[in-house]
Amino acid sequence: MNTALQAVRGMNDVLPEDAALWRAFGAVVEAWLERWGYRAIRMPLVENTALFRRAIGESTDIVEKEMYSWRDELNSEELTLRPEGTASCVRAAIEHSLLHDGPKRLWYGGPMYRHERPQKGRYREFYQYGAEAFGFRGPEVDAELIVMCARLWPELGLKGLRLELNTIGSAEERARHRADLVRHLQANEAQLDADAKRRLHSNPLRVLDSKNPMVQEVAAQAPPLTDYLGEASLAHFAGLKKLLASAGVEFAINPRLVRGLDYYNLTVFEWITDALGAQGTVCGGGRYDGLFAQLGGKPAPGVGFAMGCERLVALMKVSGGVPAARRPDAYVVHQGEGTLEYAFAAADALRSAGHAVVLHAGGGSFKSQMKKADASGAWVALIVGEDELRAGEISAKPLRRSEDQRRIGRGRIVEEFAAILQRVKA
Ligand code: HAM
Repeated sequence: MNTALQAVRGMNDVLPEDAALWRAFGAVVEAWLERWGYRAIRMPLVENTALFRRAIGESTDIVEKEMYSWRDELNSEELTLRPEGTASCVRAAIEHSLLHDGPKRLWYGGPMYRHERPQKGRYREFYQYGAEAFGFRGPEVDAELIVMCARLWPELGLKGLRLELNTIGSAEERARHRADLVRHLQANEAQLDADAKRRLHSNPLRVLDSKNPMVQEVAAQAPPLTDYLGEASLAHFAGLKKLLASAGVEFAINPRLVRGLDYYNLTVFEWITDALGAQGTVCGGGRYDGLFAQLGGKPAPGVGFAMGCERLVALMKVSGGVPAARRPDAYVVHQGEGTLEYAFAAADALRSAGHAVVLHAGGGSFKSQMKKADASGAWVALIVGEDELRAGEISAKPLRRSEDQRRIGRGRIVEEFAAILQRVKA
């Protein structure tokens, strides 16, 4: 016997019951993005591996061990399934000179791929919605991106999300800080774990992010990056904080927040919930003013975020913000010689008039068909028997109200059905 195949580990099916919630989530998010002036862009799922190595950074977890990369022998190309969207979005903006007539606000959505250890809230294929603003240098767009998230959560029925904020300055400021940080970490090397020791030289800022209490102790004593920030960086951060305060958006400054991708400078932020366990970050982002130049484009500032759809949909479920699935307006049952064609045409006409109609398929007794009609959740059962066929009529039986069955003339089915539906839904 053939064994049944299963989905790849860490990659999920979204079954119809949940797919309705996903679609409702997507509709709210996409309308909100457009309302804030962001325009859709779509990038390929596959890019040259070099793009992510250069953008995200050689010594990040993503590039070191999480990318699905392969060599396409047909074209001698090194390719990767995108682990995130920012690199591709910047690549596309450079390739198509999107900034030639000024700054741009863009959004995208879709699957991302990271070879992580799967657990609740962490998957190997996961969906993101991302927003990126290109060409804006001031803190007002950082604030806009953060405030827009704050306005989205209640629209999705979500509460209790908190905002963590930090500034990581410019590359030069970080370089000066780095020298002192490495000195401090080396002086306390005995307390570092293997991961921290490995990062000591490749990516010392990430050591500050460690979850290991021993390492955290060393991190707490480390020279703070804010001591190394110059006037411009401090002014940017102050401008952002002022706008957030005036919008009434609360935040906590987390000096250890550095994020797992190397392209950031100045602002970094995360939206976090405690309701989902360990994987509580539902949205993360920040500024990346060096990325355009790093990817070979004309220098241009950038700032954006991406949110994890699985986590937000899970949070909608625990918050009870689940919309009811749409009921079919009608379920059409039919029995007897010649009734199928008649029922088929009636269903067709009602759908063309905008109704959601399910036509019974697969035969069965009248009684079993009516059971299916009821189980479908439909408002009304439409019945075509030999009687109705002879009389050129159709019977309508409201299913969610105790109301008598009645006949509708075939020529008036669209008008009369609409009237019945309006009454039973009222
Ligand atoms: P990120 O922090 O790597 O940032 O991912 C953003 C969000 O995607 C996370 O906060 C989380 O909700 C979700 N996420 C990440 N990995 C997984 C996973 N394995 N399973 C489920 N959800 C996940 C970025 O991707 C940046 N491109 C964000 C950005 C845009 N920065 C500036 N612009």
